[in-house]
Amino acid sequence: MMDGADDVYLMEHPDSTEDIPVLDIAPYIAGEPGARERLSKELGRISETVGFFQLIGHGLPQSLIDRMFGEARRLHLSPLEKRRTIKNIGRGTYRGIEDRPNISLNQKPRLNSSFNVHREYPPDHPMNDMSTVFRYPNAWPDWLPGFKENVLEYYDRGEALGRLLLPLWAAALDMPVDYFDKYFVDPHITTTLLHYPPQKVMGNRQYGIPPHTDNNFITILAQEDVPGLAVEMPSGHWRIVEPRRGAFVINSGNTMVRISNGRFKSTRHRVINIGEHDRFSVPIFFAPDLEAIVECAPTCVTAENPARYPPIRYEDLFYWHQYSEGARGFEQKAVGPDVKSEGLWVPAQDAK
Ligand SMILES: [Fe+2]
Repeated sequence: MMDGADDVYLMEHPDSTEDIPVLDIAPYIAGEPGARERLSKELGRISETVGFFQLIGHGLPQSLIDRMFGEARRLHLSPLEKRRTIKNIGRGTYRGIEDRPNISLNQKPRLNSSFNVHREYPPDHPMNDMSTVFRYPNAWPDWLPGFKENVLEYYDRGEALGRLLLPLWAAALDMPVDYFDKYFVDPHITTTLLHYPPQKVMGNRQYGIPPHTDNNFITILAQEDVPGLAVEMPSGHWRIVEPRRGAFVINSGNTMVRISNGRFKSTRHRVINIGEHDRFSVPIFFAPDLEAIVECAPTCVTAENPARYPPIRYEDLFYWHQYSEGARGFEQKAVGPDVKSEGLWVPAQDAK
């Protein structure tokens, strides 16, 4: 349970000297000749090596992103008794530091508060029927005027950005640019407002978020100005991803590993707020339809390199990922034992 002195030192001083790549998609958005081809090749190279990059030239106004940080602050710095009035249902709810259960088997509770939003469906929509943990209505803080409208505006703009990137990912896999359309008819996107207070003591399995991979297709992260996110680089050393104003940090998730038949990475990352100020960040977990069948793209399968992953419903994959992290409440309905044995997921309690 205890970390050694060297481990603790490296938590505060990640020592990788490798670079986090930067991808500027402004030429692609402007429709410059050759830009899509060039950028998709670059994206492919990044995805095969680091699996993380800073996205610039994306066209989302900084004022919109700043407004989200403002909403994150407004929510998470509200009194606890107010925050506790948000209904705790499904995955689309508020989880506070103060009242968080110990969700992993051999680990301290994550040192963060989170608020999750899915697509806002009409009340009687099947996606609100509570039949699974991913099919619940959003719950909103009712004491914050304008909050819901601001968050849903950001949700829509984030979804549009994710969709804008799909042709680049498809081309990076040498597939037709519309290849991912079938995955993203009604995608399961989660926008999360996160708050990490300063972490006073390092080690002893305490993290803002312990090392993990993301399950989704890609994550589109806005981080304000307080660092804390660190990434396991190709060398095996960790590196802080410095906040860069106007940039989104993007990483490919486990779904991308399966579709690319292992060509693209899903890189481990963690958060420790080593500074003295509160850290606020807003990730968009951009994932396929719950009913989408995730399968290896034909261009990634050959006689010498057969498909390593059987096709699977995205919701089943997602469910198994939650289970592998030891989240309470997921144990009873685990699906697809083949998924766990593939070794793609590192259970949080085994991660260091
Ligand atoms: Fe993550």
